Amino acid sequence: MMAAGRLSFGNITALAPMVRIGTLPMRLLALDYGADVVYCEELIDIKMAKCHRVVNEVLQTVDFVAPDERVMFRTCEREKDRVVFQMGTADPDRALIVARLVEHDVAAIDVNMGCPKEYSTKGGMGAALLSDPDKIEAILKKLVTGVSIPVTCKIRILPSLEETVRLVQRIEKTGVAAVAVHGRLKEERPRHPLHLHHMQAVARALSIPVIANGGSLDLVKTNMDIEDFRKATGASSVMLARAAMWNASVFRDQGPLPLETVMEDYLKHAIRYNNHAFNTKYCLCQMLREKVESPLGKQVQAAQSSAELSEALGLQEFYQQTQDQLQAKRDALQTSSQP
Ligand code: FNR
Repeated sequence: MMAAGRLSFGNITALAPMVRIGTLPMRLLALDYGADVVYCEELIDIKMAKCHRVVNEVLQTVDFVAPDERVMFRTCEREKDRVVFQMGTADPDRALIVARLVEHDVAAIDVNMGCPKEYSTKGGMGAALLSDPDKIEAILKKLVTGVSIPVTCKIRILPSLEETVRLVQRIEKTGVAAVAVHGRLKEERPRHPLHLHHMQAVARALSIPVIANGGSLDLVKTNMDIEDFRKATGASSVMLARAAMWNASVFRDQGPLPLETVMEDYLKHAIRYNNHAFNTKYCLCQMLREKVESPLGKQVQAAQSSAELSEALGLQEFYQQTQDQLQAKRDALQTSSQP
């Protein structure tokens, strides 16, 4: 259990940033199961800069809403001291505008410097930043001096050990609170083996916490593997993406839970926080993996709404009760706002 106050990145386990997966229900689920820190999905600075902050009294959340009314980022009190807002950016000024927009609702700001997907790199964001250390420095310095909460970044390694160490040392000097290292080159795919010696060299070279990432497929399958992975990389902390996406109970010290239980726990958060049904369904399908063609998988795939997803998982009663409670809150708020 971490002490309240400024978020610390030493000796933690974290839910990694994952597009579409790392929305509020998954972050709350990971916290329930024992993750210390939860990263949101990468959110692009240009889109976030257009959002306005709305306190959602019914859901008791803070929503960052786009001009087309889409909720880009939803957060709540429960995760306030644990949630890291990850952004995609290639522009120090815009990064600061977005960081200031969310600063009082999140625990830290992270910059994505590892995403090799075209939508990220073509704007000079994500892994494209790795070949522009001046830009990295400019963005991180601007954020570190411009906001009152910790700033971190998530990188991939560079081809040589020397280049990788030089880069992270330069990053450390900007004043960031931690660096997450996905131990693969930007050209490598998640199935490729990790470069543990690069990760060890980074851990040795820095005095700020290093968060090791990339072990999900072969090295980290259970909770007990987390500590082994930490030791093997020499890092202070561990960040999990796919292992957590498949079964978030990997964060539980007490051992894993059956997939059905995890899916139900996830869906309860999704219902409670009115998560978009397509996002909920996408996450449930990722959890099902090869079971996606099972009878349960087929029911989940066929569902078109939160009500239908609830039916698939036998949570109709929970769904109805939650809808009734939310409606009662809406009615009460409407009554109290009438003159
Ligand atoms: C990712 N990854 C990722 N990384 C990041 O910095 N921002 C992001 O938004 C995403 N999105 C994302 C979505 C999905 C579905 C996956 C599987 C991965 C990369 C992720 O955080 C991590 O670096 C890699 O998956 C390697 O870690 P694991 O999976 O071995 O624990």
